[in-house]
Amino acid sequence: MEEALRAAVRAGRLEPGDRLPSTRTLARDLGVSRRLVVEAYAQLTSEGLLEARQGSGTRVAARSAAADAPRRGAAPARPARPAYDFFPGVPDLTAFPRAAWQRALRTALSTAPASALHYPDPAGAPELRAALAAHLARSRGVETTPQDVVVTAGARQALQLLARVLARRGQARVAVEDPTLPPHVHVLRAAGARTIRVPVDADGIDTARLAGAAADAVLVTPAHQFPLGVALAPERRTALLEWASAAPGRLVIEDDYDGELRYDRRPVRALQGRAPELVAYVGSVSKALAPALRIGWIAAPPGLAAELARERELLDGGNPVLDQLALAELLGSAAYDRQIRLARRRNRARRDALVAALATHVPGARVTGLAAGLHVVVRLRRPVAAAPLAAALAAREVGVVPLLWERESTAALVLGYAALPEPALAEGVRRLAAALAEAA
Ligand SMILES: Cc1ncc(COP(=O)(O)O)c(C=O)c1O
Repeated sequence: MEEALRAAVRAGRLEPGDRLPSTRTLARDLGVSRRLVVEAYAQLTSEGLLEARQGSGTRVAARSAAADAPRRGAAPARPARPAYDFFPGVPDLTAFPRAAWQRALRTALSTAPASALHYPDPAGAPELRAALAAHLARSRGVETTPQDVVVTAGARQALQLLARVLARRGQARVAVEDPTLPPHVHVLRAAGARTIRVPVDADGIDTARLAGAAADAVLVTPAHQFPLGVALAPERRTALLEWASAAPGRLVIEDDYDGELRYDRRPVRALQGRAPELVAYVGSVSKALAPALRIGWIAAPPGLAAELARERELLDGGNPVLDQLALAELLGSAAYDRQIRLARRRNRARRDALVAALATHVPGARVTGLAAGLHVVVRLRRPVAAAPLAAALAAREVGVVPLLWERESTAALVLGYAALPEPALAEGVRRLAAALAEAA
């Protein structure tokens, strides 16, 4: 309901000054609890879309419709995303907890001493490092201390910092999963690493192949392999740690990008908890809150945090402090956990809706991977030529990423479902099916 109201205001279907029904009336009309309506109105008011006036109820705010309209002297517009955007890995940005973030920022601003506004600690604000150490221990079984946590600008920068440290040590041969997220390979290489591809099968990275790969470090996604969506099998987890302990200085980089988002069972705990001295655990708020925040972290093996902080100092000096304090505040309140709980429930329903729509409209397609995270991999009955498919998708305003980039034909697609409400998922899949039929 909140989303529908927000969309109606943004699209101008509700105009500035329009009066909304009372919360009691709307709750009765929609058959939902009044509390839900009160919360939705409060959220949209905090976003500046609605205005609550004593005595005259709730109205659409005067500047709300104009807020999204281009203004003179406005920044250049970003190319619009397709209407049915299955881009993997993006959470529902309309569900960002704006009110809670606003409260957390306000608390941070009003309680931070003036000294907090000095140049930041390149390892991260002490408050956030402590909050992360506690949160990661509780939610993912990570064994760390605030001193070993380094705050970064997202997981991407975490990889950049790790690669720079490894390169400085002369140990920068980094094994990566094949397939993997291509930009991460580019980031590692740009930071001085040499990457070596190691295949992934239904049990995760092939640790026997890793053993023969002459690597100093390995980047893995054990909880939910990206993109294939499988979990690293228990015996491979053990083999990975054995590999790391077999030679001095070897490092496992655990990218736990969506480890809190599992829908069919409790998430498997992080690998790091079994061997904190061998694993650099990497995470970020990109899936749980929003990628735009650019806040990530590394729970580093003892001793590594200082080297990572030195690299960070050389790059840009550290993360903006007020955002770090706000995140510490959010983690310390119930708001972060609540956000995860809501995201789990919403994503589970959306994944189910996507799978059902695929079964109806793309017969023969096989959905693979765990019920987790924000994406699925869909294996097609037969490969489709990539260029005609891209054109057919674009014509239908559908955004889809093939499993393997830059190939002439596509036998599998990676579909992100978290950002699309159920009706849009169904329509998007109908359009995808039409595009596949046209390109076949
Ligand atoms: C495999 C993987 N790791 C990590 C991330 C998060 O990256 P960042 O924190 O830089 O936004 C993503 C986001 O798409 C991802 O797909």
